[in-house]
Amino acid sequence: MKQPLRGLWIGPYELPSRVVLAPMAGVTDRPFRMLCRRFGAGLAASEMLHADARLWDTPKSRRRRDHAGEPSPRVVQIAGTDPQMMADAARRNVDAGAEIIDINMGCPAKKVCNRLAGSALLQDEILVARILAAVVAAVAVPVTLKTRTGWDPAHKNGLRIALLAEAEGIRALAIHGRTRDDMYRGVAEHETVRMIKESVKIPVFANGDIDSPQRAREILAATGCDGIMIGRAAQGRPWIFDEVNYFLATNELRADLPLEKVRDIMRAHLEDLYAFYGDATGVRVARKHLIWYCQQHPGKDSLRTSLVAFETPREQLSALDALCEARSIDAAV
Ligand SMILES: Cc1cc2nc3c(=O)[nH]c(=O)nc-3n(C[C@H](O)[C@H](O)[C@H](O)COP(=O)(O)O)c2cc1C
Repeated sequence: MKQPLRGLWIGPYELPSRVVLAPMAGVTDRPFRMLCRRFGAGLAASEMLHADARLWDTPKSRRRRDHAGEPSPRVVQIAGTDPQMMADAARRNVDAGAEIIDINMGCPAKKVCNRLAGSALLQDEILVARILAAVVAAVAVPVTLKTRTGWDPAHKNGLRIALLAEAEGIRALAIHGRTRDDMYRGVAEHETVRMIKESVKIPVFANGDIDSPQRAREILAATGCDGIMIGRAAQGRPWIFDEVNYFLATNELRADLPLEKVRDIMRAHLEDLYAFYGDATGVRVARKHLIWYCQQHPGKDSLRTSLVAFETPREQLSALDALCEARSIDAAV
């Protein structure tokens, strides 16, 4: 059987799959990363960490830096605008166990861009080069870059940024097929991603609106990329990595998961969240995941109401069991 999924290396690491999870602040915490890795994601970067270490001593930041038990290679994403601060942040994370450092120059969030981090940086190519050089020089592990196709549709400098990144020693790129100005509007275009892939020798991951095994294959073929990165489509469907891997390897679609299996996945995910965040925060964080899981099914509004109303792990888990005991989610609403 054709096995197109192996043979992708980032530095010394051969990825178990060329389909990777996109970093998403507020989503890709340690429990979710580990869940996606178990379903076959080739990599799962941490939520973005601001490079300013003075901001790290909060419960949120401490949790973002918690990688206990995660499979190798552990990827930590950092963002910032000061080359020295970025270098220090990279070094400290490597000392704490990061095996790949990913730099975020792709985030349109105002909070980040106002400080010129994220993809606003794309306007200043000299600063980009200084940051990349400083981080690469600071650590012995591979440094990767996640970015967009440019600053706005009139300034698509993604290709120049990619060439610059390769020249500075970046070991892989992930390109979201939108500009910073596009935010999440419209559909991602992968033509610029294809151009970038054709112009560099380092591995390139295509990212943006990949939400099915068929779309994954289409984008791999259209861009010639080495891999793909999936973000929002993994919310409530972490098994999408298995679905895509299977389809790429066999050209066949997996059967839908039976409800009992989905319930077991949800249950285990919720228990991991309670253990990671503590009961009160865990229940709150679990609500958005429950909503995403339920969005896959008809009757989602009543599901949402019944599952998100609870305040304790015991209530939340019993509500989930009660719904699933009705044999199917559809029958329960
Ligand atoms: C809730 C949310 C949080 C995100 N946080 C980050 C982040 O911390 N770092 C980053 O590089 N990109 C972040 N992104 C962008 C994603 O990594 C990805 O590039 C984008 O969602 C497009 O991929 P998709 O269409 O597969 O979701 C975030 C996206 C979402 C929806």
